[in-house]
Amino acid sequence: MEILQHHSTAHQVWEEAQEFIRLFHQENPEAGDPAARLDAVRTQLAETGTYRHTHDELVHGARVAWRNSNRCIGRLYWNSLRVRDRRGLDGADEIAAECFEHLRDATNGGRVRPTITVFAPDAPGRPGPRIWSEQLIRYAGYGDENSIPVGDPRNAPLTRALCGLGWTGGRGGAFDLLPLVVQGRDDKPRWFDLPADAVLEVPIEHPDRDHWTDWGLRWHAVPAISNMCLEIGGIHYQAAPFNGWYMGTEIGSRNLGDEDRYNLLPAVARRMGLDTSSDRSLWKDRAMVELNRAVLDSFDRAEVTIADHHTESRRFLSHIDQEERRGRDVGADWSWIVPPMSGSATPVFHRTYEDRRQSPAYVQHAGAKERAQGRDLV
Ligand code: ARG
Repeated sequence: MEILQHHSTAHQVWEEAQEFIRLFHQENPEAGDPAARLDAVRTQLAETGTYRHTHDELVHGARVAWRNSNRCIGRLYWNSLRVRDRRGLDGADEIAAECFEHLRDATNGGRVRPTITVFAPDAPGRPGPRIWSEQLIRYAGYGDENSIPVGDPRNAPLTRALCGLGWTGGRGGAFDLLPLVVQGRDDKPRWFDLPADAVLEVPIEHPDRDHWTDWGLRWHAVPAISNMCLEIGGIHYQAAPFNGWYMGTEIGSRNLGDEDRYNLLPAVARRMGLDTSSDRSLWKDRAMVELNRAVLDSFDRAEVTIADHHTESRRFLSHIDQEERRGRDVGADWSWIVPPMSGSATPVFHRTYEDRRQSPAYVQHAGAKERAQGRDLV
């Protein structure tokens, strides 16, 4: 992850503000000449050390930040991101409640809608609220180096920290929902259990019963990143959870397949009766394909939005075409764009990209990873 210094001088804020206001007016000609708006921003900056985006600036800034996300393959629909403007909120309780409302709204009964909720930004010398959890929905992880892990090992440190603080929801299951950890302005972090009606989950079954049945696998419908900072024109929105829809490989290859996550390839291979004694039987590859088939088929049967990596790759190339026709170059990080299965069978593999940083952006600040692991949680 990119680590960037996140305290800016007044001069830097003004430079970044000008760049953004100009971009906003260039891409929204109906907003007219930027001169008057630039004047107002400069005055506000001089008087208060910060400035307030108009609603339209916030909406466009959040969308362009998505457009600039070099690691995201799903950017074709950047301009339809739904923006929930909650800049008036900076307390943990109200933020948690709005995050849950975000989930209901974005889940939309299974027709997942890309959505962001923006809470109060940082003010000079006074940090805004932040969400410690890396996503709004995460599964608990149990065990240590000496035991067979249960649940999602990625979240084991946070799970341990929460249990130490008296969270009693840890039932030791493979898919226990972790509470959301929110730090309000001038407050310590607090945890909030997810209401059942805010979380849609999909049971993962294989379409061919001879591969497996009733294994108890599941995954949540909505991936909602909650520990990245939305940066627009020098203003930092530390608490701004956003979601798209899943691409199958994120779950089937990475979350369920990675050795340091659910590590299910050996168990899938066993259920399929594959010879796991030799790499050359390609048992891992075959198990990975079937796990991915199960994810896509299960989401389809549950009528929950999910993309496959072939379709999403084609869409990404359409996105590049569309952007170039509008006179914009698309930055991208090859190692994140190419799907973690069958890479060369998708068109995004067979070309190169430029990975240059543009603003507005979603940025992972120093310390975000440690907070997501509950380090120093008190
Ligand atoms: N890869 C992450 C996960 O599996 C989610 C990242 C965002 N993904 C997305 N489709 N918007 O939970």
